Amino acid sequence: MQESATFDAKKAMEAYRTAFENGSSEFLTRYPETELYAPVRYLMGLGGKRLRPVLVMAACEAAGGRPEAALPAALAVELFHNFTLMHDDIMDDAPLRRGKPTVHEKWDNNTAILSGDALHVMACEALLDAPDKALPDLLRTYHRTALEVCEGQEQDMAFESRSDVKIEEYMEMIRLKTSVLLAAALDMGGKSGGADEQTREALYEFGLHVGLAFQLQDDYLDAFGNPKNFGKQVGGDILADKKTFLLIRALEKAQGADFEALQCELGRRSEGKVQRVLDLYRHLGVDAELRDAMAGQVSLAEGALARLKSHNPKALKDSGGALALLHGVAAMVTARLS
Ligand code: IPE
Ligand code: IPE
Ligand code: MG
Ligand code: MG
Ligand code: MG
Repeated sequence: MQESATFDAKKAMEAYRTAFENGSSEFLTRYPETELYAPVRYLMGLGGKRLRPVLVMAACEAAGGRPEAALPAALAVELFHNFTLMHDDIMDDAPLRRGKPTVHEKWDNNTAILSGDALHVMACEALLDAPDKALPDLLRTYHRTALEVCEGQEQDMAFESRSDVKIEEYMEMIRLKTSVLLAAALDMGGKSGGADEQTREALYEFGLHVGLAFQLQDDYLDAFGNPKNFGKQVGGDILADKKTFLLIRALEKAQGADFEALQCELGRRSEGKVQRVLDLYRHLGVDAELRDAMAGQVSLAEGALARLKSHNPKALKDSGGALALLHGVAAMVTARLS
């Protein structure tokens, strides 16, 4: 059952992705081939999963619209996402993105700051192509979400130098830095497809839980992922003392010598730090805890989807494929870990 949903979802995702890639290539031709836009073309050209634009288009279709109607919102969300990555990689001192050097490594920090700024403006320009009737609402959601992401990123940085961060604070931080953008993708897709308020709310809630599961998974892979296919530096969060679910729970659970050993690692990047912290994570069982927390978020997301179906049977008529895709996205977030 789950397998066939995942299989259908993969095929549907491919079709949305192709539609997005075509729209994106065409959109980028509006901008000159100058130095300012070279890092934009580089980062956008490295691809990535394109999860957010796929969600925009699936939500649009689930609401009864045609996926093309969602292209301005899909472009805006993915361009904004790439802008946050360009700046996030400076902030996190990250050498790799999507298996290639980050923009500030390939060029320099100033270039990444400025091209990132341009990318953010380009995201707004893409959204301006949405139909006039939907535009004010889409702009409101887009800008509120963009500020929330900045708030989340600020908390992420501030937590680096604290050792008393609680899981509730962490969940709020990842809601802001990651979940709200996935939720906004679904909400904006729904709006582009003419969804009513209630449908959009359920789509948003689904996105929030998928987003929380997604960031928990990102934290897991940053620690335990395979460097061959992760595309980013494995262990970067440990080196920077990021207050991930794993580190917060480890600090809460560790006793005696374990606690001393963990405290001793914080605030310095000594040789062998990543391996020692990973051993402690496994020994304390926080990796299993993270997987449980993630599964909990996936089932909350499924609950939101069930409510969406039962409250809006009319609005969701003939949208079986798009709904299967949303189920599939939730299932795929879990599948990547195993
Ligand atoms: C990375 O997002 C940033 C996070 C919120 C974890 P993705 O994992 O979606 O990155 P790409 O776009 O597929 O490269
Ligand atoms: C990313 O969080 C959130 C945003 C980019 C807004 P991370 O810092 O964990 O993302 P990655 O791991 O670099 O992709
Ligand atoms: Mg970061
Ligand atoms: Mg980062
Ligand atoms: Mg990460």
